[in-house]
Amino acid sequence: MATATTQTPKREAFGSRNVFILSAIGSAVGLGNIWRFPYVAYEGGGGAFLIPYLCALLTAGIPLLFFDYAIGHRFRGSAPLAFRRMHRRAEPLGWWQVLICVVIAVYYAVIIAWAAMYTWFSAQLTWGPGNENDFFFVDFLRSADVAEVGISTEFVPQVGLPLVAVWLIVIVIMALGVKRGIGRANMILMPLLTVMFAILVVQSLFLPGAMDGLNAFFTPNWEALGDPAVWASAYGHIFFSLSVAFGIMVTYSSYLKRKTDLTGSGLVVAFANSGFEILAGIGVFAALGFMAQAQGTEVAGVASSGIGLAFIAFPTIVSQATGGSIIGVLFFGALVFAGVTSLISILEVIVAALQDKLGWARIRTTLTVSIPLAIVSMALFSTTTALSVLDTADAFVNAFGIMAVALVAVIVVAWLLHKLPALVEHLDRRSSFRVGRVWMLLVGALAPLVLGYLLVTELISKISEPYGGYPGWFLAVFGWGMVIALVALALLLSALPWSGRSHAKDDPEYDEFLAEEDYEPDAETSSIPMVPMTEPRSTEKGASA
Ligand code: ALA
Repeated sequence: MATATTQTPKREAFGSRNVFILSAIGSAVGLGNIWRFPYVAYEGGGGAFLIPYLCALLTAGIPLLFFDYAIGHRFRGSAPLAFRRMHRRAEPLGWWQVLICVVIAVYYAVIIAWAAMYTWFSAQLTWGPGNENDFFFVDFLRSADVAEVGISTEFVPQVGLPLVAVWLIVIVIMALGVKRGIGRANMILMPLLTVMFAILVVQSLFLPGAMDGLNAFFTPNWEALGDPAVWASAYGHIFFSLSVAFGIMVTYSSYLKRKTDLTGSGLVVAFANSGFEILAGIGVFAALGFMAQAQGTEVAGVASSGIGLAFIAFPTIVSQATGGSIIGVLFFGALVFAGVTSLISILEVIVAALQDKLGWARIRTTLTVSIPLAIVSMALFSTTTALSVLDTADAFVNAFGIMAVALVAVIVVAWLLHKLPALVEHLDRRSSFRVGRVWMLLVGALAPLVLGYLLVTELISKISEPYGGYPGWFLAVFGWGMVIALVALALLLSALPWSGRSHAKDDPEYDEFLAEEDYEPDAETSSIPMVPMTEPRSTEKGASA
């Protein structure tokens, strides 16, 4: 084993618990809340959807959020290091989460770039009334069919250039580190986002027809509750929305001070995220009610999800409403801010993991991670076939990435390693809200059942019909191939030795934490194989690892 020749830099930390809470809310509140939830809720029975939604939140979302917090805070590391410290063989779970973040980061950035352009277009009403659909697909994205053109390399500058700007901004935030970069960005962007969103919702509520939209959104369709697919969509949604099983909450909670009320913080984050989501539903459906009235049709005829809602329905509302430009600027501006605070949390999973494994300084790791990601993001998503790649990667990584890793992680931790009692003990140590045996039951029994069911349903649906009607070769590469590659690469990365400069083995701060908490040293930590250290550890300011 190599020994440190210079003083070990301290692991980074959030400035305070409040900054952590704000950053965790910033990560949770993202594109999923604004454009996904309103439609999922509407499709799932409107007002009646609140029942499966609350069940999913209370029985799976919050318990798994605590699961992530407990692992990150107890084992004090990025996802691979935290799982590694739990058990030598659990390290691939961490890398699997890191690689899921790699995939999400490259497409998440481009949606932020589109939203940034649409903030600008809203101010000018660039698309022209009645032309919203063609403007988005033809003029803006210059979308081409993969079945006809294959994978295009034709550069679309109006997407590529803002995408460069998005990457530059997030690279600067990431390079500044956890406290000065991520913490500060959230302290600025989250209050701005909240104010912008509140104004948007109030303005939407005053549009003619808004009440019809709210009626459509909240009128309960009790029959929907008998449909297992509605329950599945509530559970599926909650994972993405709360950012659980991405490694994000493991990483963020590893930057918390030792004496922190974990469950109390988690409850604030979860309910703030849900509050934001319901507010988004109210704002979006009030605006859709206006659109339906203006077009003399039913709300059902104008409600759409995701990309259709944000980039076609909203521009139509912007064209038709009095003061529409303001609505557009607020809506797309909110998407940009919500997206950036989530994207930095996704990138932090990757940066922290490499810092831990390689023992590199913050800036070096940030650039090594972000520049190749930015290039891949540009190569795949600033071309004419971006939309098909994005759609496929998103659908497959959500189902067979996030949900699959969540299932495998709870089975490994609860059933194979029997670590739930230790984690519950850690959570309850100084938390205001004690979770006890109920939590163990939810994570160890209910979560695997629900996740297993969801995964099998997804598998059947994606095998029985080619997803999105895309060609087989395309789904084999960007769908199935991508999700299989994540697992293979995760195993490969786990097999690589940890750098001698890494803190993983020789971490006085962690040893001190274990001693003060009266925890046994982790047997697995001493088994971390290292490559010899050839240079002194970095003492660059802000370096963590
Ligand atoms: N939780 C983030 C979102 O909702 C990833 O978009």
